[in-house]
Amino acid sequence: MTTPADLCTEAEIQDMVHTFYGKARADEALGPIFNGMIHDWDEHLATLSDFWSAVLLGTRRFAGMPMPKHAAMPNLKAELFERWLALFGETTDALPNRALADAAQEMAKRMARSLWYGYQLSRDPSQPLTELRPA
Ligand code: HEM
Repeated sequence: MTTPADLCTEAEIQDMVHTFYGKARADEALGPIFNGMIHDWDEHLATLSDFWSAVLLGTRRFAGMPMPKHAAMPNLKAELFERWLALFGETTDALPNRALADAAQEMAKRMARSLWYGYQLSRDPSQPLTELRPA
């Protein structure tokens, strides 16, 4: 997917990331996972702003490794990825910048699907892969 470099500002990305993780931390299902694993929230929010800046604006600022980091987490389930996507959809539906909302939702769905595939393959590659339910 290509997105125009003027899709949004860095401030809009930061705002989206901060609002989303505010919801995720307070969520009954996702909150305990995030709060249990993330000790420096400023750092996590900066990393995730870099990630979204890279995928939406092509800034190449992100140099992380999402797949092995999520594969290493115990007890991830399809329902958790579906909840993640629901909260992300809620957050981005409220954005005034519709082009940003559409591009971010599309990318989030692709990433969630791919992380969920990777997670299943990292656990038991002999089992058939299951899909995430569409929101
Ligand atoms: C079940 C859903 C998810 C949970 C519980 C979850 C949880 C986490 C946690 C706890 C971390 C910190 C890991 C660490 O520092 O070791 C992390 C990192 C990250 N997550 Fe997720 N995540 C989920 C889904 C997603 C999705 C759908 C995306 C992308 C759209 C995403 C993007 C990232 C990125 C880019 C990082 C940083 C990776 C790095 O530093 O290399 N996550 N996630």
